[in-house]
Amino acid sequence: MKWQWYDSYYSLSAHAAQILLQSIRDDPRVVLGLPTGRTPVGMYERVVNECSCHDVVTFNLDEYVGISCDHPASYCTYMHRHLFDHIEIDEANVHIPDGMAPDLDAECERYERAIADAGRLGVTFLGLGQNGHIGFNEPGTPFTSRTRVVELTHSTRLANAGLFEGGRVPERAITIGIATILDSKRIVVLASGDSKREAIARLRSGEVSEEFPASALHKHDNVIVLTT
Ligand code: GLP
Repeated sequence: MKWQWYDSYYSLSAHAAQILLQSIRDDPRVVLGLPTGRTPVGMYERVVNECSCHDVVTFNLDEYVGISCDHPASYCTYMHRHLFDHIEIDEANVHIPDGMAPDLDAECERYERAIADAGRLGVTFLGLGQNGHIGFNEPGTPFTSRTRVVELTHSTRLANAGLFEGGRVPERAITIGIATILDSKRIVVLASGDSKREAIARLRSGEVSEEFPASALHKHDNVIVLTT
């Protein structure tokens, strides 16, 4: 695992955007794993005007269960607002789990298969939850996990309450699994701000434990963590 430290969120975002743009220059059909949350916003802002993305394939890491794509707090809305509405990308190449699917288990299987059919994730960008979650893989998740429905922890729902009216965050989500993430050819972690200090320190400690999901990344040989 490589580490890069930045003196500001601004420079972290600029470098993350460079990595993303370079991976598209290296392979215009690259398969990207894409995160949501506050941290990647600066990266997306810097990517939108520079991206020749037509053939890029994207898979979002996760989505809430029970809210539709046009819900203001859905990750689908987030992705359109911050990225997809501003770039030229073939809509057929954009993948986000459907949290409204009538059969959620079938939706998870479909999503995992679509990633496999695309030749697995090429470059996956990850945010870091305060409790070390990646995607919505909460503490205790087996490292062998694949795309599935998960229960969100109280702390994660609290951290994401801001966007939901009355703080009513869905209790479940669909997330790609830790094994799905580890299948990526390259992984870029973005972690910024005081609320992530503890999680960053724990990741730096080298401990590998299912109680700290991000520690699975120590098992991968091409991971870079960009942090402030
Ligand atoms: C949510 C997302 C994660 C993201 C995390 C951190 O829980 N499901 O994929 O990494 O939030 O978000 P933030 O960057 O807002 O701290």
